[in-house]
Parts: sequence; structure tokens; C-alpha cells
Amino acid sequence: MTSLLLRGRLLSFHRAPESLTDTASYLYEEDGGLLVQDGRIAKMGSYTQVKAAAPEGVEEVDHRPHLILPGLIDTHVHFPQMQVIASYAANLLEWLNTYTFPEECRFVESAHAARIATHFYDEFLRQGTTTAVAYCSVHKASADAFFSEATKRNMLMVGGKVMMDRHAPQGLLDTPQLGYDETRAVIEEWHGKGRNHVAITPRFAITSTPEQMSAAQALAKEFPDLHIQTHLSENHDEIRFTCELYPDATDYTDIYARYGLLGKKTLLGHAIHLSEREADVLSETGSVAVHCPTSNLFLGSGLFPLKAIRRREKPVRVGVATDIGGGSSYSMFKTMDEAYKIQQLLGERLNPLESFHLMTRGNAEALSLVDRIGTLDEGTDADLVVLNASATPAMRLRMETVNTLPEELFLLQTLGDDRSVVETYVAGKPMKPLD
Ligand code: GUN
Ligand code: ZN
Repeated sequence: MTSLLLRGRLLSFHRAPESLTDTASYLYEEDGGLLVQDGRIAKMGSYTQVKAAAPEGVEEVDHRPHLILPGLIDTHVHFPQMQVIASYAANLLEWLNTYTFPEECRFVESAHAARIATHFYDEFLRQGTTTAVAYCSVHKASADAFFSEATKRNMLMVGGKVMMDRHAPQGLLDTPQLGYDETRAVIEEWHGKGRNHVAITPRFAITSTPEQMSAAQALAKEFPDLHIQTHLSENHDEIRFTCELYPDATDYTDIYARYGLLGKKTLLGHAIHLSEREADVLSETGSVAVHCPTSNLFLGSGLFPLKAIRRREKPVRVGVATDIGGGSSYSMFKTMDEAYKIQQLLGERLNPLESFHLMTRGNAEALSLVDRIGTLDEGTDADLVVLNASATPAMRLRMETVNTLPEELFLLQTLGDDRSVVETYVAGKPMKPLD
């Protein structure tokens, strides 16, 4: 058995905070200890307690005065879009057609997919993100590269071969049958291997024919435990075109409902412009709306009503995500900084406890994976991030006037980036790249 004892200031959420003073929603241990054994958190509490329970001569790493949190979680990214980020476009559809689809065509080459996969994981670990939910490209080779690298690094990743059979370049299209067969092959080869989770991934209704949607439905029926991911109501032109393509459906959400694609494991990217009826359907089915703030601002898609949608009589489950490469930052701090600003524009307050809950436990709950990730609870996987709120001269100066934990978290969210990430642990192993 391998053992490691970490010392630092522990922060882990029990539930969503109701206010800035809701101290019962989280655990904060000023001089905390975490005993990691065989990749899991074996013991968590005060350093003195945990040290007493640890084996004689256990290796110790003292991270004081830094914070130790569960590894950050990103619930919507596009693995083949690392070389799309920062592309200049007027809106979603122009951005997809001009930059994104041509770039994704390159992932037919295994060597290219493998090269980008190493950069992808390096970048997420640099940012303190230990789990991401990714769209690969339409090519099976891209999913193979994605999961092969995740397996090497022992990371808990969710990903899927994109299904798309129309309205894109020829090099980016499968067929209903091929989309079904190759998704099935990816499930058989990768799901449950290491810590991998495969997601059924029809890109969105524009790029899937009704026949392909039926193929996705068949997969969802055969593999009811798998995640399903797609995009919903991101942009007004997209919504209009989608509804033209499926004239029998009541609205955009109804298209996915008709093909049996909504449910507790379904992640719907963006979901910005929903009617009350659509929000009710998401709530009733337990589907998750995934908020991608930097992307929504970058592409001019709109302002997602994060606070309002959660406090409805029929609340909608939400996750938060970068949406690389429509998103403009890999950092979950930058993501929540933009989420905060969007709520400001909507006349709402998103407090830093809520933000840090969302990046950790909240996203784990959105993925139905909170029994494994997103907290420092004993028995869960030791995916951790160590954070320094004084990482830069400007942060250090501002920290001189910080008095409370929420103030420190807000500073991290507002000024923090990969420089604030001191270390990223994956299943108990330090994994942050050196450069
Ligand atoms: N809708 C369909 N595909 C995409 C994509 O790659 N990025 C974003 N932001 N929206 C999409
Ligand atoms: Zn997306």
C-alpha cells in the first residue's frame, strides 16, 4: 500500500451554499491533514488527528499556507479545438463553419490526435482541472487518442466520439450506422477501462439527421448508464435553423425529448435561450444545463440565467464549463469570473462560495459522480488541487487586505489562473507539468 500525508488548509463542500455566511455548507480545516492511500482519501480531518492515524514514517508534503481542494471539474470541452481557441468570428455558426469544422477534420490522423491529447491533458493539469467532459471529433481515432492518454495518466475523464452526419464538410461526417457502430466500439474498448467514462455524443440536432438521432436513441437504450452530451439553444440563428430541420417538434428541447435523449445523465451545452416549457422539461427529466460563460460572451451567444434557472419552482440542474475552443480560457477561475459578470449584468449575485462549490462538488453532482470526485470525503478518489491566493505580485498585494475565506476565494477567482495552482494531484500523484 502506498501512503501519502498532505498538510494544508482544507476546503470541501457538503452541499450548495445558500449564502455567503452559510458556513454549514462546507468543511474548512485551517490546519488539515489528508491521508492518501492507493489513490483514495483514506482519512481527512485536522492534521493532528490524521497524523495519529497514519502509518509510522509516512511520506509527508506540507502545503501550508495553501488551500487544498478537490480537483476542479470542467463539464463541457472540445478536445479537437485546442488550435481553434482565439478564432475571430461574428457568431456561433460562422465560427463553426470557418474554423472549427476544418480544424476537426485533421483528427482523422491518429498521430495528430495523439499529439494534441498530450497537450490537452498537460493544459488541464496545469489549470488544476482533474476531470473534464469532452467531445472528441467524429473520428474514432480521436476518441482512442483521448482515452489512451487519460488511461496513461489515470485521470477520470468523460468523452465521446461525436456523431454527425450532415451540414458539415465531408471529412467530418459519419452515417447513422457508422456513428452507431463506432460509438459502440468506443464503449466496448474504453468504458470502464481505468477511470474512463464514455458519453453518447450526437453533436447537436443541426448536424444529425433524424435517422442518426434514432441511432443515438438506440445507444441510449442499450447503455442507460452512460452520459449523453449535446448542445441546446446556444444562439438564435442556430435555434431557428434547428426548428426548421425538425418541424414536428414543439421546440429545440422537444427534439431531444422525442429521441429519448433527456435524463439524469444528459448534459446540454449552453441552454441559454429556453422557454419556460423547455426549462420545465429539463427539470422534470433531471437533465443538466451546462453553463459556458467565456464561450457565451466570446461568441456573443447570450447571458445564461444561472441563478434564476436554479431557483425556479421546477429547478434545472446546472454544471459549469470552459467550452474550449468556443470558450476563451482553460481556467475554471476565469470561467467563474465571467459567470459572475454575467450574473452582474442580469442583476443577480453569484457569491464565491457558490462558484467554488460549482467548480468542485456542484459539477460532480451534475455528472452523478459525487461518490468518486468533487469532495475531500473519505473513500473518494484523491484528485486534488493546491491553491495559492498570493501567486503573483498583484495577488500578494491584494491579499494584505483579505480577512475571510470567501474574500480569498473571490480573489482567486478574479485574479487567479494557472500560476495559482501549486500542485494538481491525480489519484494521489502530483501531476502538474513543470512548465
Ligand atoms: N454547437 C455545435 N458544435 C459546437 C461547438 O463545437 N462549440 C459550440 N460552442 N457550440 C457548438
Ligand atoms: Zn460545445
